[in-house]
Amino acid sequence: MKDLLDIIKQRQSVRKYSNQPVEKDKILQCLEAARLAPSARNAQPWKFVVVDNAEVKNKIAKAATSPLLPVLNKHLFKAPVIIAVVIEPPKIATPAQIISWLDNRELPLIDIGITTEHFCLQATELGLGTCIVGWFDEQKVKKILAVPKRQQIGLLITLGYPKDGYEVHKKNRKDISEISNFNKY
Ligand SMILES: Cc1cc2nc3c(=O)[nH]c(=O)nc-3n(C[C@H](O)[C@H](O)[C@H](O)COP(=O)(O)O)c2cc1C
Repeated sequence: MKDLLDIIKQRQSVRKYSNQPVEKDKILQCLEAARLAPSARNAQPWKFVVVDNAEVKNKIAKAATSPLLPVLNKHLFKAPVIIAVVIEPPKIATPAQIISWLDNRELPLIDIGITTEHFCLQATELGLGTCIVGWFDEQKVKKILAVPKRQQIGLLITLGYPKDGYEVHKKNRKDISEISNFNKY
C-alpha cells in the first residue's frame, strides 16, 4: 500500500491522455472520495457533472480555450472525461444560517477546492491522471450543461489515463522554511 505522501507526490497536472476509456466504477470511487471531503458547516456545497459524451466534452473544451492563448487548456480536447464542479448555494433555513453564510461567503469556494483535491488524489491512486482547470468561460459551460442560473461552476477537472511514457515530473514548490513558521508569522 502506498503512503498518502507518495500519492500526493505522484499527483500532477496530467495534460496528455491515452484514448483508453475510464471505467465507471473508478469514476464512482473518485466521486466517493470527493463526497467524503470536509466542508464548512458540513454544507457539502457541490455537485459533480461528469461529462463523457464526446460531443458535449468538445463543446466544453471550446469554452475553455481561446485563440488569444492557443496553448492554454488544449488538453481538454483529449481528456476522456471532464468533470464540472458546481457550487451549490446553501439552502437557507434559519436566520443564524443566513448570518453565518453572509459572513463566510467565500467558504464554498474553499470547500470545492478541498473536494476537488480529494477527487484528484483518489484518481491518482487508481492510476488515473487529472488536471484542475480554473480558466474557462463559465457562462458558456453553464449553458452547455444546463446548470441553473443561481449555481456557479467553480472548477473543471480533466480525467483519463496518462499517455504512455508520461512521467512524474519534479515538483516546483517553495521550501517548507519559506511557507511556514512556528508560533509567529
Ligand atoms: C484552482 C486551480 C486552477 C487551475 N487552472 C488551470 C487551468 O486553467 N489550466 C491548466 O492547464 N492548469 C490549471 N491548473 C493546474 C496548475 O497549473 C498546476 O496545479 C500547478 O502548476 C502545479 O503543477 P502540478 O499540478 O503538476 O503539481 C489549475 C490548478 C488549480 C489548483
